[in-house]
Amino acid sequence: MSYINFSAIILAAGRGNRMLSDTPKVLYQIGGKCMLQHLIDSVIQVGVRSIYVVYGYKGEMIIKKINTDQYKIPVHWILQNDLVGTGDAVRRVLPVISDGEEVLVLYGDVPFVSYQTLQRLHAIKSQCDISMLTATLSNPKGYGRIIRNQEGSVVRIIEHDDIINDDQKEIKEVSTGIFIAISDHLKCWLSALTAHKSKNEFYLTDIVQIAHQSGYSIHTMCPTDTFEIMGVNSKSDFVYLDKRYQQRKVQYLLSSGLMIIDPNRFDLRGTLVHGKDVYIDINVIIKGHVSLGNRVKIGASCILKDTVVADDVEIYPFSIIENTKISFQSKVGPFVRLRPGTELKEKSHVGNFVEIKNTRLGEKSKVKHLSYLGDAEIGDQVNIGAGTIICNYDGIKKHQTIIGDDVFIGADSQLVAPITIGKHATIGAGTTVTRDVPASETIISRIRQFSILNQKRSKNKK
Ligand code: UD1
Ligand code: CA
Repeated sequence: MSYINFSAIILAAGRGNRMLSDTPKVLYQIGGKCMLQHLIDSVIQVGVRSIYVVYGYKGEMIIKKINTDQYKIPVHWILQNDLVGTGDAVRRVLPVISDGEEVLVLYGDVPFVSYQTLQRLHAIKSQCDISMLTATLSNPKGYGRIIRNQEGSVVRIIEHDDIINDDQKEIKEVSTGIFIAISDHLKCWLSALTAHKSKNEFYLTDIVQIAHQSGYSIHTMCPTDTFEIMGVNSKSDFVYLDKRYQQRKVQYLLSSGLMIIDPNRFDLRGTLVHGKDVYIDINVIIKGHVSLGNRVKIGASCILKDTVVADDVEIYPFSIIENTKISFQSKVGPFVRLRPGTELKEKSHVGNFVEIKNTRLGEKSKVKHLSYLGDAEIGDQVNIGAGTIICNYDGIKKHQTIIGDDVFIGADSQLVAPITIGKHATIGAGTTVTRDVPASETIISRIRQFSILNQKRSKNKK
């Protein structure tokens, strides 16, 4: 659904002083995506005509980080030069919005309001002049409080720092900062704002009192879950929201059949799809987009990013895997690093302390201990002995290594790329291979073992 006369303004210009950080608050990531991007994604689904993001503090950094090309509707960036409050921020946008347009206002540091809640808020707008999202919190500290008159109508919002008596302190109904009004009404109310002397800021929330006193009607509604309206002002707000986000994701994954053995020790920083009977041990982190087949087991403390794992794969503890494809019944780990461009074919094994980059390891091939493989094409049923290193880099360029099917590489060998080892070849342990090896040949470059007569080891005098 798309509404012709409906736009959204997102405020993201503030310094975020209370975060005590050089990174703009709205760029902090939750679940692998920054807060502002989460919010834009949600607003896009509401069906607005266009979105205006007000930027200021480290604005160039924000524009660079936020991907707006993916959206079908325009996202405009509006600069707020002087950061003199949320009222001023909205005022910056209104000149480019035509009269009579409905305007949804949101705060960039309240990232998880759902599009369903926003659509409900839009639905009630037809019955009033301001439709406002409020919430009742057991601990309303930090939020503006909703002041109602005896008839129950909203008459004003009082900011937390401006609370003057215990009655006001007791109010649990808070302003979320999210509301919808008509653009020309907004222009009129904003022009009547005065700055609060203590902070030299124009509070957007003051428009509520102005509107009420001029006879405009204000209706409110609550979100289904207070998670939707949690704002981030400090590091502790941030970790609290992050935790709540993770808990929700874990609950969803558990209900879709995934076994996450300890929901408090699992982090989803992207998206995860999975088959049946998948088991995830403690402290696993999923980043980017990860797909796990049926009966996959992931051991403790593994990190998987942008990786596809087929059925019946087992990944042992402390493995770090990025941009990799693992085919069925393969085994990986413990302590393995699979870097971008790795592909493990069916039933292959990668074991302790092995690093692989941009390499295809064939079916039933094994590299089980202490090795580095880079820029290689390795055939089926190959055995790579412990301590094998592919020397793929000459200081300037990377070179390729090709290893045929059924090759046996003895332990502690170095393969100096570019090099091709033909199928069924055997490399003796401790060999430095510098020339191509023909198929079925056995080579060795180690010196023969010999005895040195009468050789005495020097003794430690102590
Ligand atoms: C604001 C509300 C408060 C509400 C709370 C909900 C005001 C005065 N108060 O308080 O009633 O309960 O949000 O989370 O609005 N920003 C700008 N330009 C500025 C100042 C801020 O764009 O000059 C942006 C910030 O980047 C932020 C948002 O506006 O994304 C809110 O600002 P913030 O300072 O966090 O307001 P709160 O104190 O949380
Ligand atoms: Ca805030």
